[in-house]
Amino acid sequence: MLPVGIDKISFYTSNYYLDLRTLACAQGTDPEKYYVGIGQEKMGMPAHDEDVVTMAASAAYPLFEDEQSKHISTLLFATESGIDQSKSAGIYVHRLLGLNQNCRVVELKQACYSATAAVQMACALVARQPETSVLVIASDVAKYELDSPGEATQGCGAVAMLIKANPRILEIDAEVGNHTEDVMDFWRPNYLKTAIVDGKYSTKIYLQSLKKAWLNFTQASDLGFADLSHFCYHLPFSRMAQKAHKHLSRVNKSNLEPAQIEAQIADSLFYNKLIGNSYAAALFIGFISLLEKGSSDLGGKKIGFFSYGSGCVAEFFSGTVVAGYQQYLFKEQHQSMLESRQALDYEQYIVLYNTPDPQRGESVTIAEDSTGKFRLAGIANHKREYVAR
Ligand code: CAA
Repeated sequence: MLPVGIDKISFYTSNYYLDLRTLACAQGTDPEKYYVGIGQEKMGMPAHDEDVVTMAASAAYPLFEDEQSKHISTLLFATESGIDQSKSAGIYVHRLLGLNQNCRVVELKQACYSATAAVQMACALVARQPETSVLVIASDVAKYELDSPGEATQGCGAVAMLIKANPRILEIDAEVGNHTEDVMDFWRPNYLKTAIVDGKYSTKIYLQSLKKAWLNFTQASDLGFADLSHFCYHLPFSRMAQKAHKHLSRVNKSNLEPAQIEAQIADSLFYNKLIGNSYAAALFIGFISLLEKGSSDLGGKKIGFFSYGSGCVAEFFSGTVVAGYQQYLFKEQHQSMLESRQALDYEQYIVLYNTPDPQRGESVTIAEDSTGKFRLAGIANHKREYVAR
């Protein structure tokens, strides 16, 4: 069977961020709690005219500059901060990108895990029809109550991946390890704008699920801990990945030095520290960070991935980085996007946090505030109007 996996991968985040030093100062908290304790520096905040649709379309747009979209058989849209209970956010993206009308579109949800489900389903579809491609997009806005422990772990971002046969970035292995368990560590009832989270419990369940998914993975795969050169974890905040990787190395009785353990994940953390949690997108933005921020050539290396979605579903899977992957990255675009973002002061952050959400069908025109290729221009009669720049 032909290898299947990620052929191209790109991410997008909004043009605004709040430095966690600014948040700490407003709260009277020691900034080191955020910079060191949870390992986060900044968090992305969506502009008034930005949401999961505009971020998703902006993430996917670069993938199609030299691509024939007619080969896209399916668009899988993963999110837990969707904008409609019925219509898939992916349909707006399908139009904005000009995808062909024979392409099916569906939205998937299982907290931060759903993008991994989408990638695995996409691989299965492409394995059946190797001449086709599947577009997987994950896009989320992480929002918690003001003055709650989760507030410093907010963020926003989208990742877009083209899944193809003979991919140029990552060949994904068929063997996976899963763990599913009905737990209430983090959830958001339909009537709430912010997530409810039992923070300490959620970190405990994350680590327990890692061990269980890993043990299931080792039953399915011939690979062991020592065969994997680098690891990417779901990133609610970067310290979580550091704790997780130490935990996994203990589970495997690895005799690596602490610095070697840290080196296996360090490059995957850079972008998340600057963006914050992007829920379903976070694991794969971490993978982009590993590819783009690392100084060594990862061609031919085996990577381990741990995906975690509260509630909970966890998956451990693996893949091989394809030699020559560097020439297909969007490294300069990503770095210039991050460098050109604008810092918010605390009052501006509160205004964005409280962005009006018209719910009575009133007509609202939204002023230009974002800088991406696509924006939310207005809402009228309960319909959202998206436009390209
Ligand atoms: N200098 C340095 N470090 C400091 C410090 C200071 N001044 N003050 C505190 N710290 C350290 C603490 O010692 C602690 O370190 P350890 O974890 O190593 O003990 C760390 O900073 C955090 O401090 P607290 O434990 O006191 O923080 P908290 O309770 O206020 O919040 C949290 C932590 C519960 C994780 C909170 O951020 C939260 O609720 N986050 C949202 C939920 C979440 O992200 N869960 C992750 C697993 S679930 C998941 O992954 C799905 C998802 O995306 C949400």
